[in-house]
Amino acid sequence: MNQKHIIITIFLFQLLIQTKSQQFSENLSPNSLGFEKEKLTHLHFYFHEVISGRPPTVVQVAEAATTNSSKTGFGTTYVADNPLTVGPELTSKIVGRGQGMSASADLNDFGYLWVFNLVFGEGKYNGSTLSLLGRNAVLAPVREMSIVGGTGFFRFARGYALTKTQFSNPSNGDSTVEYDVFVIHY
Ligand SMILES: *[C@@H]1O[C@H](CO)[C@@H](O)[C@H](O)[C@H]1NC(C)=O
Ligand SMILES: *[C@@H]1O[C@H](CO)[C@@H](O)[C@H](O)[C@H]1NC(C)=O
Repeated sequence: MNQKHIIITIFLFQLLIQTKSQQFSENLSPNSLGFEKEKLTHLHFYFHEVISGRPPTVVQVAEAATTNSSKTGFGTTYVADNPLTVGPELTSKIVGRGQGMSASADLNDFGYLWVFNLVFGEGKYNGSTLSLLGRNAVLAPVREMSIVGGTGFFRFARGYALTKTQFSNPSNGDSTVEYDVFVIHY
């Protein structure tokens, strides 16, 4: 190889490295990241809103000037970090937390915007999350909301949650809601 060849070779090599490091997107097969077969998982747990807790697991963080004159409390916004348990009792084993926000978002009926991360702390699910986003028609016997994504064990998740109020205490607002979550993921 003469000098000219060496220079050209170095130039082409640099160009190759540059193209690779400046590549914005590429096509991959799911297998190349270890995603093999999609599966359907059913999760069953109880979601506890402990308003009477010290500290409460749900706090109101905002309202509008017109909220008090709205029949649905339109605009009221809450932040929550609720325990998820395997059984209906608050004292049963905790399997995760429901962390998120809700807001009264319907002028005429009780319909809440429900935006929650379900953060699991149990066995192979430990550290994995599911993201729930939907309309919570709180007075309906069964509410359905979407699972729009997930992390860890639940990467590429999609699905739905069916929720039913199990118990609610009118004097302090505490409630226990049964969640059935059906999710497709790898
Ligand atoms: C709405 O009513 C609550 C309870 O009576 C009161 O604490 C709050 O200040 C009122 N909010 C507005 C915006 O008037
Ligand atoms: C979950 O993971 C955390 C952090 O890695 C660890 O401290 C905890 O003991 C784990 N819990 C279970 C039930 O495996």
